[in-house]
Amino acid sequence: MTSSSTFRIGGDLEVGRLGFGAMRLPTEEGPPREGSLAVLRRVVELGVTLIDTAFLYGGGANEELIVEALHPFPEGVLVTTKIGVARSAESGEWALDGRPEVLRDQVDRALARLRFERLELLQLHRIDPEVPLADQIGTLRDLQAEGKIGRIGLSEISVDDLDQARKIIDVASVQNRYNLLDAEHEPVLAACEAAGIAFLPWRPVHTVHTATSATADSGAAESAAAEEVAAIAAELDATPAQVALAWLLDHSPVILPIPGTASIKHLEQNVAAAALHLTKAQRTRLDRQRPTPPQP
Ligand SMILES: NC(=O)c1ccc[n+]([C@@H]2O[C@H](COP(=O)([O-])OP(=O)(O)OC[C@H]3O[C@@H](n4cnc5c(N)ncnc54)[C@H](OP(=O)(O)O)[C@@H]3O)[C@@H](O)[C@H]2O)c1
Repeated sequence: MTSSSTFRIGGDLEVGRLGFGAMRLPTEEGPPREGSLAVLRRVVELGVTLIDTAFLYGGGANEELIVEALHPFPEGVLVTTKIGVARSAESGEWALDGRPEVLRDQVDRALARLRFERLELLQLHRIDPEVPLADQIGTLRDLQAEGKIGRIGLSEISVDDLDQARKIIDVASVQNRYNLLDAEHEPVLAACEAAGIAFLPWRPVHTVHTATSATADSGAAESAAAEEVAAIAAELDATPAQVALAWLLDHSPVILPIPGTASIKHLEQNVAAAALHLTKAQRTRLDRQRPTPPQP
């Protein structure tokens, strides 16, 4: 990796750039939960300082798992959660809900579950199209002024959303789906890079891992890309998932990948990917496999 291994979110909150996404960790009692607790403890032992969760992940169960594994949180470890999705009391369905009173309630509940006095980085899971953007972002700004939120992040947004939000708040982070084989949000990444905003790509390895493990029915372009990733992985004595992470870390200094895994072996491989060095020629070969990004 040529660039720094840490990033200051919002200009001051320093974390290691290779984070961990907790979404896929099983929470049910018994061996699955024990396995998840062991993974989370290993995350911190390995020096990872950025852990991503959300209220949506089990309706708070994922946050509670993290608390059980790691509370009191070691100095320097950032646990960041997301709000803005709620479960209907009538139907039990999850749906976007960005109404100010719901966001306020979810922040209070997240503070209680995570046992924080302040959420150092709080992300809005989605902008709710049914609620004026200014009301949603304005509520987060008010919660920040009240001291309940340190910094504000957004998720699955467009460049236009980002521009609108930045008229009201300082956006500290953006979390969009993005990886070596998925360039849809390249314009959003470019906007984040220009503004020094942390970009947390979700799905950082899964697409690449699946493509390189697939055999028969992948399309021609995807097969060619998968072959190139697998070839570079073999040259580096690494796995395709590690190449995918090394490429992300190399691609932009504002990228903070948050790969998730329930496997300690995969976790250790993912963390080791931060030390993997791609040559200039390998980077060029990987860049050639990128889908064409949409025009900004
Ligand atoms: N903001 C949003 O809307 C949003 C949406 C989805 C996710 N997220 C966040 O982003 C994080 C990551 O997203 P994601 O889980 O969709 O994608 P991901 O991290 O790219 O993929 C996770 C999957 O890849 C496998 N995997 C991980 N490391 C591997 C390795 N080294 N080798 C082989 N397989 C590996 C895992 O299986 P094993 O368990 O078998 O390793 C798991 O099935 C989530 O945990 C969550 O925090 C955010």
